[in-house]
Amino acid sequence: MGGPVTLTDTFGRVHRDLRISLTDRCSLRCTYCMPAEGVPWLQKDSLLTTEEIVRVARVAVEAGVSTLRLTGGEPLLRPDVVDVVSRLSTLIGPDGPPEISLTTNALALPRLAQPLVEAGLTRVNISLDTLRQDRFVALTRRDRLDDTLAGIDAAVGARLAPVKINTVVMRGRNDDEIVDLAEFAAERGLHLRFIEQMPLDAGHTWDRGTMVEAEEILAALTSRWELTEMPGRGADPAQTWLLDGGPTTIGVIASVTRPFCGACDRIRLTADGQLRACLFARTETDVLSVLRSGASDAEIDAAIRRCLLGKKAGHDIDDPGFLQPSRPMSAIGG
Ligand code: 5AD
Ligand code: SF4
Repeated sequence: MGGPVTLTDTFGRVHRDLRISLTDRCSLRCTYCMPAEGVPWLQKDSLLTTEEIVRVARVAVEAGVSTLRLTGGEPLLRPDVVDVVSRLSTLIGPDGPPEISLTTNALALPRLAQPLVEAGLTRVNISLDTLRQDRFVALTRRDRLDDTLAGIDAAVGARLAPVKINTVVMRGRNDDEIVDLAEFAAERGLHLRFIEQMPLDAGHTWDRGTMVEAEEILAALTSRWELTEMPGRGADPAQTWLLDGGPTTIGVIASVTRPFCGACDRIRLTADGQLRACLFARTETDVLSVLRSGASDAEIDAAIRRCLLGKKAGHDIDDPGFLQPSRPMSAIGG
């Protein structure tokens, strides 16, 4: 391949993190993501095959991507997810093999954590927004809190350390659980990150005015612990603090009030083969058609670079003209 061994956009940002959505389906219906009845699912014949996923990933890794993150919907619903991981783990880039991680609701981890580790998975991010059963049912529309907690235990048991927990903070729904959730994480050695809710829900109900801001999350934590900010954030969306000098750390992903677009190193591949330079991109690059037209690796590499050429400086959520992407989060991948 002719291109330089980095994926650089017009702002000089080098892209090292490819997020691959394995399916748009999910076993939960989190209100900030999907409506109760689900969304019209992607057509089966437009879904990337495992062969196609591995091919795009291989070209990206050869072009300098060093982290592959599998997302969804719920990636563990893909029947051959263990096979996907084992095939991705054979890839090799200029700096060696990529790190392979997975963002999941954890429901299937009691069954899959161990086989995934054996296949080469190195880390998981697990979504957990509440510790209260009634709230879990209200937020996810499924009565599965115990299964999520069992999945967290399974991840810890399979030594997928550090197990990261993602918590989207929502006004009036879980914003009074910030300290409880942080304590839960501290007791188990989990790395919890509180996330500002972003306008990505299928129902378009997000409201900037009532959104819980990072400032408020930090105030809740400060009421209980002394926070010390950790240096060396790099391209990590989370700003991280030590609680009472450590070892517990807590992260805050302030996507809206403290955007980190300037350090973004992420590119996304949807389950139906569309490359997205940003969660909030309004355009996509159709790598599915490229793949199915019998393209060479060089043409796939060119499609990835073409996608990055259109990457904007930032997401502009606070701009009055901001438009939510037409795809819901479940069909983009976190
Ligand atoms: N805002 C912020 N984070 C979100 N996630 C899903 N939808 C949203 C949203 N609207 C996060 C969840 C999950 C990951 C895939 O993305 O916490 O862990
Ligand atoms: Fe499923 Fe994740 Fe969306 Fe919740 S946020 S419905 S777990 S895809």
